Amino acid sequence: MKEFVVKGGTPLHGEAAIAGAKNAALGLLAASIMADEDVIVRNIPDVSDVNTLLEAIADTGAKVKRLERHEVLMNGSSIRSYIVNNRYIRKMRAGYYMLGALLGKYHYAEVALPGGCTIGSRPIDQHLKGFEALGARTSIRNSMVLVEAEDLHGANIYFDTVTVGATINVMMAAVYAKGRTVLENAAKEPHVVDVANFLNSMGARIKGAGTDVIRIDGVARLHGTDYSVIPDQIEAGTFMAAAAATRGDILVKNVIPKHLECISQKLREIGCEVQEYDDAVRVIANRPLRSAKIKTLPYPGFPTDMQPQIAVVLATAAGTSTVNETIFENRFKYVDELNRMGTHISVEGNIAIITGVNELRGAQLVAPDLRAGAALVIAALAADGESVVEDINYILRGYEDFVEKLQLLGGKIGIADSEEEARKFFLKAGMV
Ligand code: EPZ
Repeated sequence: MKEFVVKGGTPLHGEAAIAGAKNAALGLLAASIMADEDVIVRNIPDVSDVNTLLEAIADTGAKVKRLERHEVLMNGSSIRSYIVNNRYIRKMRAGYYMLGALLGKYHYAEVALPGGCTIGSRPIDQHLKGFEALGARTSIRNSMVLVEAEDLHGANIYFDTVTVGATINVMMAAVYAKGRTVLENAAKEPHVVDVANFLNSMGARIKGAGTDVIRIDGVARLHGTDYSVIPDQIEAGTFMAAAAATRGDILVKNVIPKHLECISQKLREIGCEVQEYDDAVRVIANRPLRSAKIKTLPYPGFPTDMQPQIAVVLATAAGTSTVNETIFENRFKYVDELNRMGTHISVEGNIAIITGVNELRGAQLVAPDLRAGAALVIAALAADGESVVEDINYILRGYEDFVEKLQLLGGKIGIADSEEEARKFFLKAGMV
């Protein structure tokens, strides 16, 4: 089993180039099968979640041709099967976007119940409620979600909770519904806007994405397009947090600084310097850091996907911080791991109370999910001594070239798949 091996204690310095947004790419790649013409999607991240979805899409008969590492050509005209049950898709969340795409186009879809990070109960009732409002019947049988309709018609849909997944999914199906659909209390995340822009570039008529009311006027047909995915807000935020936690200085490149505003503001509040450029942000942490209060909220609030990474930063900031997780109920599984590194964190309900310590020490760690796994890697890079992070597959689902990018910043990190390899790494890291 592969693991990350880390010799911490070196501030990270240099430049990190950010890949395309995983969660935008997942929505957009599913949506691309809705046209019967060639669709080229650029800037897709080479991460396992995206590659798994591409395999599942290819299994339906759609054309999926990798043009380059970050470019794929898709064409939905050859689809033969409306059933998505690839054995890997069960382990990820975004397979559910095939429900909206296939339902819209073919009025029928059967997709394996979504898996994904175990960060909460993660129901899909709002997706199903939206599909039903458009005229579909929905059911769940043998771990498959089935949606079908004779006809799809526009509807007014109010989401009971702000949900990225349901907003994107129902928006996709509504593109082919007759008449106007209005989604209220819609999610405003940059990836919702990106999927809407992508669909519009194929001839859809979607207005208001990025606000909490999205209006979709149904069309009869979508055409091909050539589109580039936005940069990954959370990968960028993770490197910003890595600069802060290791008291380093990182220029995070290929980003949209506006999408990072809430992260930049928090880092400034705790004592980092954050410089913004047209398509880059630089985080400099050369002063003592102080505590803060964080509350995760839908965009433009502080992202739940950055909650574990910022907790690691606060773990060595002077004073007592609180981190209130309001989106997912089980996103503090990393706290026990961090406490073994010497942090003082207690969890009461959905709030983590963090009393800053002077330093972290290396430990044997297990990544509990994608973002928490990345946070543990940051902690290991900030800590004194040697750490091992197990279950790295979670991390590889969402971070392209994570190890290589950290190495470029001076991080002493490698991948080992045996004790012998780990020992060799630590010996070498000790001598450098
Ligand atoms: C997306 O998950 C992302 N995943 C998650 O990223 C991210 O954490 C999350 O949005 C929030 O930003 C993908 O895009 C593939 P939601 P999703 O629907 O769509 C509740 C990462 O690390 N809810 O916005 O599953 C739900 O329980 C991953 O990259 C319902 O109650 O999240 C949660 O409390 C992890 N009913 C809240 O809404 C529903 O039908 C927000 O969930 C749907 C959601």
